[in-house]
Amino acid sequence: MSLNLDAFWMPFTANRDFKQAPRLLSKAKDMHYWTPDGRQVLDGTSGLWCVNAGHARPKIVEAIAKQVGELDFAPPFQMGHPLAFELADRLVKYAPEGLNRVFFTNSGSESVDTALKIALAYHRLRGEGQRTRLIGRERGYHGVNMAGTALGGMGPNRKMFGSSLSGVDHLRHTHDLGKNAFTKGQPEHGAELADDLERLVTLHDASSIAAVIIEPMAGSTGVLLPPKGYLQRLRSICDKHGILLIFDEVITGFGRLGSPFAAQHYGVTPDIMTAAKGITNGCIPMGAVFVKQSVHDTFMQGPDTAIELPHGYTYSSHPVACAAALATLDTYDEEGLLTRGAEMHAKMEAAVHSLKGLPNVVDIRNTGMVGAIEFAPRPGALPGRRAFEVFMGCWEAGVLLRAAGGDNIAISPPLIINDSQIDQIVSTLEKVMKTVD
Ligand SMILES: Cc1ncc(COP(=O)(O)O)c(C=O)c1O
Repeated sequence: MSLNLDAFWMPFTANRDFKQAPRLLSKAKDMHYWTPDGRQVLDGTSGLWCVNAGHARPKIVEAIAKQVGELDFAPPFQMGHPLAFELADRLVKYAPEGLNRVFFTNSGSESVDTALKIALAYHRLRGEGQRTRLIGRERGYHGVNMAGTALGGMGPNRKMFGSSLSGVDHLRHTHDLGKNAFTKGQPEHGAELADDLERLVTLHDASSIAAVIIEPMAGSTGVLLPPKGYLQRLRSICDKHGILLIFDEVITGFGRLGSPFAAQHYGVTPDIMTAAKGITNGCIPMGAVFVKQSVHDTFMQGPDTAIELPHGYTYSSHPVACAAALATLDTYDEEGLLTRGAEMHAKMEAAVHSLKGLPNVVDIRNTGMVGAIEFAPRPGALPGRRAFEVFMGCWEAGVLLRAAGGDNIAISPPLIINDSQIDQIVSTLEKVMKTVD
């Protein structure tokens, strides 16, 4: 196959390096990818944390094909189509209790910016329009739109773009290798880091703060689990000061931790929750923002003929995406996938923690169907080089993993993975890690 690689400017990719030795995927089914030259690769990353039910699942493929021939598009502004209402009604049954209103977007980044706009508008409608400050957290990732970039806490993602939003501040991150290294599941130490919000309240005054957005478990920055009690404490500080709590569940939603959402897994309910990725099993772009009814109802005032939220996308609730999402939920239900992470937790935990003691490993973390291995940075090298070389070695050996923020390898396979495929991931990692200095 001869491809001209010049025109496509690839996202989050070292373009010049990639184009010298491209890594291409051309086919996928269930747990595997195939390269154009026919090499089989085990998917240890659910594509990009999104193909939770595995690839090319028949129900989803059929639903998409059928829908595109039946109703390919319907305008979402001042018009509707039945599948959008059916999907929203169905989705809220999986959501944490009380989050029973859904706004559709097309990606995680759009969900984040939508959630933040809803938070700002909510306070304004309640007569507290001075609450404009938004709080994120260091080592958070909230996508790449302007607000998500500003609220995220990954230096390299922010610095290129100047101060894309004013009135933003960040909590400290909770990753503490000194106290919590090699913890299985949630770390013991660090609940008190939630008090950082009190510090920001003292600094800025609660009356200026609209919302706090965090990932209940940070995924893209290396699988950072919340310390025990941390989310509960953050919830109560938000309540005390009238600050909305937003959980960004773009990665944790749809079964990654062993519950439909991390909010249920950790027993803490946010006011607003973002989702994307697994909502359509990665087949068709779609995102959603779940909102507490009280927040939603705040908008339902003034004349009935007024548009309550001047926000939305051409492709909000796209019919083909709705069909894909409904078939995805069917597949999740039929195969019990949204709780399979809990059943497989012990297997995953034992597998990833068996890598302790290999060269340069400074931490191993896990929960549900997710694990991470952290390496000491190589002195004098660009950050993340060791993880990248492990990623490359695994790719060459037939396993796709992900080098995540810092020097981490993240493992997040489709929820249909079996025991021997987990063993394959770990034995491949072991072999490769022994070769990376
Ligand atoms: C927590 C979180 N929020 C937002 C996003 C952005 O999603 P998207 O890439 O679909 O815009 C991601 C993507 O990985 C994410 O992990």
